[in-house]
Amino acid sequence: MRRKIVAGNWKMNKTASEAAALIDGIKAATAGIDQVDIVVCPPFTDLKDAAAACAGSNVALGAQNVHWAESGAYTGEISAAMLKEIGVQYVIIGHSERRQYFGETDDSVNQRTKAALAAGFTPIVCVGETLQEREAGKIEEVIVRQVTEGFKGLSSAELAKLVVAYEPVWAIGTGLTATPAQAQEVHALIRRTLAAISDGATAETIRIQYGGSMKPANAKELMDQPDIDGGLIGGAALKADSFADIIKAAL
Ligand code: 13P
Repeated sequence: MRRKIVAGNWKMNKTASEAAALIDGIKAATAGIDQVDIVVCPPFTDLKDAAAACAGSNVALGAQNVHWAESGAYTGEISAAMLKEIGVQYVIIGHSERRQYFGETDDSVNQRTKAALAAGFTPIVCVGETLQEREAGKIEEVIVRQVTEGFKGLSSAELAKLVVAYEPVWAIGTGLTATPAQAQEVHALIRRTLAAISDGATAETIRIQYGGSMKPANAKELMDQPDIDGGLIGGAALKADSFADIIKAAL
């Protein structure tokens, strides 16, 4: 049995003081829940206050990106050591907004994932097709490419440590959710692809989250699917109650 993992991707929302207040609200609303991994991923500037708010609780801390180099001339980037010192445990990599607006590629995703694993983080690596790719019948081509290229050179032991998030780009922030059957179909494809680049036993252990307009009303039916092991939540993670309700749907 794979342990479910529900993570909030706050994107570019919340100041540091707002982050601490939201985490306090999440802790109160999820007190005593220890059967699901709960993660919040605030912006970099919030991480220090967020770490203090998460300390000693059931809420773990993630960042929204990490650079592959140890240090150096990479203006605007953040290294693994910087995140490590604050107490970050998870790192989102390759979100479609990074791919779409900031030139992230399968190759940069690969480099960031390797650096995150080397630093001992749990990478949450995002894949997903656009509406255009879906309508052109290219889901399999896109997903297989993103998984095989993004994870190129990783051993089975390394793959077993990461989390994959399937986020159909057309479902992000649009209110359009993949149906449970549509999502399950792609999750199963991702697992088959993971098996092809490692082995069946390893692929069975890797958690695959769904992301894209997941909310309390649809979370349970999505997470009830055999290959959906949690959620990566955007908008609904910005309020303690709705985020907690999604976590409860994973129980
Ligand atoms: P929404 O939940 O706002 O659609 O965002 C999903 C997402 O991109 C999480 O990473």
